[in-house]
Amino acid sequence: PDEPLVLGIETSCDETGVGIVRGHTLLADALASSVDQHARFGGVVPEVASRAHLEALVPTMQRALDEAKVTLADIDAIAVTSGPGLAGALLVGVAAAKGYALAADKPIYGVNHLAAHVAVDTLEHGPLPEPAVAMLVSGGHSSLLLVDDLTNGVEPLGATIDDAAGEAFDKVARLLGLGFPGGPIIDRTAREGDAASIAFPRGLTAPKDLAAHRFDFSFSGLKTAVARWVETRQRDGEPVPVADVSASFQEAVCDVLTAKAIDACLTRGVRTLVIGGGVAANSRLRVLAEQRAVKHGIEVRVPRPQLCTDNGAMVAALGSRLVAAGVAPSRLDLPADSAMPL
Ligand code: KG4
Ligand code: ZN
Repeated sequence: PDEPLVLGIETSCDETGVGIVRGHTLLADALASSVDQHARFGGVVPEVASRAHLEALVPTMQRALDEAKVTLADIDAIAVTSGPGLAGALLVGVAAAKGYALAADKPIYGVNHLAAHVAVDTLEHGPLPEPAVAMLVSGGHSSLLLVDDLTNGVEPLGATIDDAAGEAFDKVARLLGLGFPGGPIIDRTAREGDAASIAFPRGLTAPKDLAAHRFDFSFSGLKTAVARWVETRQRDGEPVPVADVSASFQEAVCDVLTAKAIDACLTRGVRTLVIGGGVAANSRLRVLAEQRAVKHGIEVRVPRPQLCTDNGAMVAALGSRLVAAGVAPSRLDLPADSAMPL
C-alpha cells in the first residue's frame, strides 16, 4: 500500500506554508510570505503577521493541493506547527488545521517547529541516522541538540544565552543599513568582502567560558563589537567597508557555530550533523561545516536553502515521521503554545 499522505501547515512567524509529503517524498510546498509588510519596521510585527496568515492560508492550502494533484479527501493526516512561535500567528494555523481535520474527518498532529526544522532534511536525504547532532539556527533559536529519535523528543546540549544567530544577522544588517531580513543580504554582501579583514570576537570560546558553556552560544557581544567598530569609523569620518564588515561578521558567526557543532559530535561520538533553520541557508556556514566535518569523518546534512527557512513541507515531514512511528494523534482541542519546549 501507498505510504500515508500527510499535509503540514506552518504559521509560527511570517511565512504561511502548506506542504504535502508521501513518506519521505515532497509532493507540494506552497508558501506565502508577509516579509515585505514587516520590512519597514525592521522586524516581524506579530499583529501584521497574524492578519496576513488569515488572508493567505486558504489560498496557500489550495495551491498545495493543486501542486500535489490531490484533494483534502486524499490526505491521511494533517500536521500543524503548534509551537513555539508568535501566539497569534500560531493560532491561525492551529485553528485552520482543526477546521480541516474536523470537516474532512482526519487525524491532526500538533508538531514542534524546531523538531520540524530537523525533520525536513529527511525529504532531501532520506531517513536520519540516529543518534545525530542537530544544530538549529534561525531568527528565534540557536541550539545544539542530540537527536536519539526524532518522533520522541530530543536532548538539548546547548543554546544561545542571548541573541539567536539569525537575530544577530538581522541586527547587524540593520546597523549597516542593508535591510530586512538581514541574513540573505549579508550572505550576498559578504561575497565581495574579506572575511579576515576584521577580527570580531568569537563568543563563549575562551577556556573559562567553555567550562560552563561548552555548547552554548552568545552573539550579543559580537553584535555590539560590530556596532562599536562601525561607530568608530564614522566618528573618524572614514567610509564603512560594508562588504568587509559583513564578511568578517559572518565568519565570526560561522566559525563559532561550526566549531561547537563538530565538538558536540565528537564529544557524543556522533557521525551525523544535521543543520536546520533559516541561518542554515547561509552559504559560508554550509561550506565551513562541510570542510570541518569531513576532517573528522562526520557527515553534514543540510537541506537546500528553500527548505531551511520556514515552510509547510517541514511540518508535513515531521507529521509523516510521527504517523510512520505509530504515534497517537493530538486531540482536537490542541492548544497553540508560543513557548513550547523541545
Ligand atoms: O527559520 P526561519 O525562516 O524563521 C525562524 O523560525 O526564525 O529563520 C529566519 C532567520 C532570519 O533571521 C534570517 O535573517 C536568517 O534566518 N537567514 C539567514 C539566511 N537566510 C535566512 N541568515 C544567514 N544567511 C542566510 N542566507
Ligand atoms: Zn523557523
